[in-house]
Amino acid sequence: MGKVIVVTSGKGGVGKTTTTANLGTALALLGKTVVVVDADVGLRNLDIVMGLESRVVYTSMDVIDKQCELSKALVKDRRVDGLTLLAASQKNNKDDMQPEEMKAICSKLQTDHDFVLVDSPAGIERGFNNASAGAEEAIVVTTPDVSAIRDADRIIGLLQHAGIEPINLVLNRFSPQLVGNGSMMDQADVLDILNIDLLGIVPEDLGVITSTNRGIPLVYEDTSAGSQAYMRIARRLTGQRIPIPDLEEKGFLSNIVNWFTRNR
Ligand SMILES: Nc1ncnc2c1ncn2[C@@H]1O[C@H](COP(=O)(O)OP(=O)(O)OP(=O)(O)O)[C@@H](O)[C@H]1O
Ligand SMILES: [Mg+2]
Repeated sequence: MGKVIVVTSGKGGVGKTTTTANLGTALALLGKTVVVVDADVGLRNLDIVMGLESRVVYTSMDVIDKQCELSKALVKDRRVDGLTLLAASQKNNKDDMQPEEMKAICSKLQTDHDFVLVDSPAGIERGFNNASAGAEEAIVVTTPDVSAIRDADRIIGLLQHAGIEPINLVLNRFSPQLVGNGSMMDQADVLDILNIDLLGIVPEDLGVITSTNRGIPLVYEDTSAGSQAYMRIARRLTGQRIPIPDLEEKGFLSNIVNWFTRNR
């Protein structure tokens, strides 16, 4: 039996879909069988970020409505073995799906996949309830800003209430430079507030935006900081012990470098 992990946040736009696409792809590149599930019914995006939008024929709603078998709705990613997508319906809304229906889909998927990653919509209502219904574990994504952290804290409470454990944190769009000059919270501050384990830190990386627009998850190229961060997180998910590099130290160092450059 594989693991069902919901990727969630509370606040919108903090990087849930980016995280799901990159971790799903990274896990497949590591040889795991993975299905990424878009639970953002009505506002699906994961198919675009994965570059699979033109191949989506059926959605989870079609499976629920018995229009097709679950296996038929899975879109195979041809770039890497073992990676598939289950898309969300665009023409329905979140209330058209019941949490139990998503739970049933996830339980079926976990019988023949190592990882089922569910991309949650923002918010704490039905969309979140659907996305988390079949999950045993959670990845909470936040950016290091006060409103995202407050919403993450709320979501962590709801996940704990639902008995979902472990709940791990991905700190996204982290900027060592901004931390270094005191304009962004550092990882210790964020962890102090949220009090959950840190799974990894993804830096602010322009490559994420271009890769999203091209439909090629960043992890396919291995040179950028963002790609390496996602690969490390994926390895941690497979149980490997990969230390979290001290990005802040780099910020501190680059501050010194900047200071020297400015004062040369
Ligand atoms: N590490 C990063 N560096 C730079 N840009 C990023 C990073 N992570 C995400 N982004 C950008 O932030 C935007 C929002 O990302 P994404 O769609 O993954 O968020 P989301 O949490 O899924 O949003 P929603 O709540 O609407 O579903 C996208 O334009 C994406 O390219
Ligand atoms: Mg999203």
